[in-house]
Order: sequence, then structure tokens, then C-alpha cells
Amino acid sequence: MSGFFRIYYYVFIAAFALFGCNSPKSAKTKTKENANKGEALFHSVGCTQCHSLEGQAMYGPALNDILNTDIQVIREGKEHVLTIDRDYIHRSIQNPDFEKPVNFKNSKMPKTELSPEEIEFITDYLLSINEN
Ligand code: HEC
Repeated sequence: MSGFFRIYYYVFIAAFALFGCNSPKSAKTKTKENANKGEALFHSVGCTQCHSLEGQAMYGPALNDILNTDIQVIREGKEHVLTIDRDYIHRSIQNPDFEKPVNFKNSKMPKTELSPEEIEFITDYLLSINEN
């Protein structure tokens, strides 16, 4: 390769490395968009009736500052301690009766009529507010 073409070659590679991999949309942008959809849903489908995002328990637990915290739950009649992660948050929305926080064992979260995709959006939203 002559020196002249070599420069074009490197410019092309650099441009591809910078912009090529991000197109059309990076995974991060997608998650952010999903979280925005989740935020809208969280407020429109009534989660706020029972859940605060500012730390105080209402009928249900507050949903901010929960990620990576340990929680005691009852599952199939037995107590377990687990660390709250994405899966736990997702399960809690999809199937509220599967595990119940011991502190809320006498309260009941209604089973959702959200689609699987909508549950993903809300889960992404709850993760986003927990990661600040
Ligand atoms: C009628 C009140 C009520 C509504 C409406 C409700 N929840 Fe809950 N939620 C609860 C209660 C009570 C618990 C704890 C007991 C349980 O899991 O059943 C809970 C638990 C949770 C948990 C687990 C939190 C933890 O710290 O263990 C998540 C996540 C959650 N709800 C998300 C949602 C989302 C998202 C919505 C809206 C789609 C929603 N909830 C609607 C009452 C409610």
C-alpha cells in the first residue's frame, strides 16, 4: 500500500471504530429508551398507588435504593435472604405472590396485566432510578 492510500485506510478504520459499531442504536440508548417507556407506564398503570420512589413505605415497599440490598422473603412457606437484583425486581412484578418480603407478608400486590415487554420496560426504569 502506498503511503497515500494508507492514510485513507487508517481514517476509514478510525471512523468505523468511532461510529460504525454504534449504529443504528447502541444497547445503552435502547435501555434508556426502554426505561423512559417504563417510567410512563409506572405512573399510568397505578404502581404509584402503593409504591413510593422516595424511600417511605406505603402499602408496598419503596422502590428506590433497593438494588443490591439484602431482603428477607417468604417463598413457598420458607424464609430466605436474598440480594435484590434485576431478576428479583422482574419476578416481583411478573409474579408478586412467588416471593413476598417478610415485612409485607400480609399485604398483597395484584397480579399485573402488563405484557412481558412492558414488564421489561418497568424493570429497566426501576433499575435506572436505583443506579443513581
Ligand atoms: C395494591 C398495591 C400495589 C400495587 C398497585 C402495586 N404493588 Fe408492587 N407491591 C405491593 C406489595 C404489598 C408488595 C410486597 C408484597 C408482595 O410482594 O406481594 C409489592 C412488591 C413489589 C416489588 C418488590 C419490592 C421489594 O422491595 O421486595 C416490586 C419491584 C413492585 N412491587 C413493583 C410494582 C410495580 C412495577 C407495580 C405497577 C405495575 C406495582 N408494584 C403495583 C403492592 C402493590
